[in-house]
Amino acid sequence: MSITTFAVAGATGRLGRHVVDVLTERGHRAVPMSRATGVDIITGEGLAEALTGAEAVIDVASWHSSDQDAATEFFRTSARNLHEYGRKAGVAQIAMASIIGADKATAGFLAAKKVHEEVLLAGPIPVRILRAAQFHEFVEQLLDWQRGDVAYLPELPTQLVACRTVAEELVDLATAPAAPGTPIPEIAGPRKEIMAEAGRLLGARRGVKVVGVDGSGMPDADLAAAGAFLPGPHATLAGPTFREWLDAQP
Ligand SMILES: NC(=O)c1ccc[n+]([C@@H]2O[C@H](COP(=O)([O-])OP(=O)(O)OC[C@H]3O[C@@H](n4cnc5c(N)ncnc54)[C@H](OP(=O)(O)O)[C@@H]3O)[C@@H](O)[C@H]2O)c1
Repeated sequence: MSITTFAVAGATGRLGRHVVDVLTERGHRAVPMSRATGVDIITGEGLAEALTGAEAVIDVASWHSSDQDAATEFFRTSARNLHEYGRKAGVAQIAMASIIGADKATAGFLAAKKVHEEVLLAGPIPVRILRAAQFHEFVEQLLDWQRGDVAYLPELPTQLVACRTVAEELVDLATAPAAPGTPIPEIAGPRKEIMAEAGRLLGARRGVKVVGVDGSGMPDADLAAAGAFLPGPHATLAGPTFREWLDAQP
């Protein structure tokens, strides 16, 4: 099946805007779906209209905070709505971005992503999942959330990856022939980083002092410290590194 029209849930987000760019550059039609474009995948407002004529959905919408219960409710509802409205519109496939380690998580936002995967996979439309490492752009979000001259980031390992790199891999997955029986693919950056060290590089450019903390108060901190959320042996690793990405920012 050759898909030409993709509806992109979360098209205005950090990852979503790159997904729209990659689709457009490759000659596909991208229908943006976010509240900013008049489409709400939770209430259903504008959803039927946006999906009319779409052959596939790419789901990169997200809840805006790390609260597990609120995020779980968001992903559960959005997944059900994308299936329900998508089935009526004749959508043939949904591709979604998840996070590496979601399958192992017991708490926090990662556990909400596990529910996101499960509810999407339980629906009538075939689903493809790409698990990504934390984004280079996520480090910006961590500093933004703290809003002061000092930010506290965990000294935990992560294999940060650029949103543009994830978008290319996700569009590859969404347009590839089905490959039943293969493990859920993963995409991560070229090397292991420490979140607090990446934060220090960014903080130095923003005048924010970044203090490393042990992360023990975070959900599943022991698993994270043991590297359980790092990419597996079958992961695709691709640049730029965090520093290269930072140097390329305007
Ligand atoms: N952040 C990371 O490091 C990371 C790592 C791996 C995977 N992921 C996954 O990648 C995906 C994208 O993450 P992101 O960081 O790019 O998210 P983001 O920047 O927070 O963007 C979220 C998008 O969802 C849209 N949205 C929120 N509520 C909506 C609603 N009710 N109806 C329609 N659209 C809605 C937002 O637009 P409006 O506000 O206009 O509605 C925005 O376009 C998520 O599934 C996330 O779990 C993230």
